[in-house]
Amino acid sequence: MANTAKFEIDGKTVELPVLRGTDGPAVVDIRKLYAEADVFTYDPGFMSTASCESKITFIDGDAGILLHRGYPIMELAEKSSFLEVCYLLLHGELPTAPEFEVFEHNITYHTMIHEQFDRFFMGFRRDAHPMAIMTGAVGALSAFYHDSTNVNDPAQRMISAHRMIAKMPTIAARAFKYSRGQPFVFPRNELSYAENFLRMCFSVPAEDWVPNPVLTKAMDRIFILHADHEQNASTSTVRLAGSSGANPFACIAAGIASLWGPKHGGANEECLNMLTDIGTVDKIPEFVQGVKDRRYLLMGFGHRVYKNYDPRATVMQQTCHEVLKEVGAENDPILQVAMELEKVALSDPYFVERKLYPNVDFYSGITLRALGFPPEMFTVLFALARTVGWIAQWKEMIEDPSQKIGRPRQIYTGAPARSFVPVDKR
Ligand code: SDX
Repeated sequence: MANTAKFEIDGKTVELPVLRGTDGPAVVDIRKLYAEADVFTYDPGFMSTASCESKITFIDGDAGILLHRGYPIMELAEKSSFLEVCYLLLHGELPTAPEFEVFEHNITYHTMIHEQFDRFFMGFRRDAHPMAIMTGAVGALSAFYHDSTNVNDPAQRMISAHRMIAKMPTIAARAFKYSRGQPFVFPRNELSYAENFLRMCFSVPAEDWVPNPVLTKAMDRIFILHADHEQNASTSTVRLAGSSGANPFACIAAGIASLWGPKHGGANEECLNMLTDIGTVDKIPEFVQGVKDRRYLLMGFGHRVYKNYDPRATVMQQTCHEVLKEVGAENDPILQVAMELEKVALSDPYFVERKLYPNVDFYSGITLRALGFPPEMFTVLFALARTVGWIAQWKEMIEDPSQKIGRPRQIYTGAPARSFVPVDKR
C-alpha cells in the first residue's frame, strides 16, 4: 500500500500521509486537509474515522478477535484475573509477582470512601436508578480528592487511576444496598476484588456471608470481559471530556452517562427485559417478525465493529451456564428463550445479511440475574468493570503528545445570515 493518498478537489491536489499500525486498516492522516484544501470530512458516527492512536486494545471485527495489549480476551478470561488485567491495561505488560503484589495492595487500600460521601446516597429516592446514582456520585469524587486532580502530574494520574478502580465497587455496592434499604457494607482488605464486591452487595448484618468460589470466579471473569473495548461511545466520551483537561473523576462520570444508553451499556438491562417480555419459546417467531418490521431492535445483537461473533459473548455464554448450574437454575426458561432466539436469529437471512451476531450483552443479563442482581444494576456492573478501560485510555490520551482539545467541525445547513426583525414586524 502507498505511503501517501492523493485528494483532488476543485483542481487542487493534496497529498496526505498514510499511516499503518501494528494491525488493522491503515489510516489517511487528514490533519492538514482543511488548511490545504479548505474542506472538512464528514463522518457523524465515526464509521470510517480514527479519533486517536492507541496501544491498549485491538478488535478485528470480521474475525471476532479482541486483544488487550496483544493478549486474546479468551486467554485472559481463562488464565488471568481482573486486577491483573487492570495492571496490563494501565502499564502495557503483565505484572511480575512482586509488581502485582504492590498493585493489589495499592488497590485494596483505596477501597474505602470518605465518611461524608455516604450522605450523597441519602439525597436520592430509594427507587432512583442506580446508574443515576453512579453518574452523580462518581462526579462528586473530585470534591474529595483535590490532591489528585492535577492531570499533568504522572503521580496524580496514577493515584487517580488506583482510586477509581478501587472505589467503584464500593460505590456500586452502596447504590445497590441503598435501593434495597439495607445497611452499607464496608470493604474487607483480606478479600479479593470480586469477593469484596459480592460481599458488599449481598452480606447482611444478620448472618455471616460465605463466599462461593464458582460465583466469585464468574464475577471476576465478567469484569475482565467488560474491561476495555477500543474507542466505543463511552470511552470516546471520556477522551473528549479529558481533552479539555477536566479532572479524571469528572471524565469517568461522563463515561458512565454515555454507557447508560440502551444502544451501549444499557443493552444488558434492555436485553433481559426483552427476553422476559418474550417469555416463552413459542413467542419467538412473533417477536422476530416485530424486529423485521422495525418495531424494535433485537437487544444484545449487532455491533458497530464486530461483524462476526463477539468473542466476549462466547465466554459470557459459557459463564452463564456455569452460574446457572451453580445456583440450580440451569432450566431457567429465560435461558431457553435466549438460546432458541440466538439459534433462530443466526439462521434468519434478515440478521445474517446485516451481520448481526450476539454481543457481550446478550447473555450477561441472564448471568447477572442468576448472581442475584436486579436488571437496573446490570449497567452499573458494566461501568464498574469499564472504569479501568476508561482511565487507561484517559491516561494514554493525556500522555499522547499529538492529542489536542477535541473540537469537531460540522457541515452547516441552517439559515443564511439575516438581520434581526423586531416583534411588531414579524
Ligand atoms: C456495546 O462500541 C463498542 O465497542 C460497544 C461495546 C463495548 O464493549 O463498549 O461493545 C458494548 O455497546 C455492545 C452493543 C450493545 N447494544 C445492543 O445490543 C443494542 C442493539 N444493537 C444495535 O443498537 C446496534 O447493533 C448497535 C448500536 C450496537 C450498532 O449499530 P450500528 O453499527 O450503528 O449499525 P446500524 O444501526 O447501522 O445497523 C445496521 C443494520 C440496520 O439495518 P438497515 O437499516 O441497514 O436495514 O442492522 C440493523 C439496523 O436496523 N440492526 C439491527 C440491530 N442492530 C443493527 N436490527 C435489529 N436489531 C439489532 N440489534
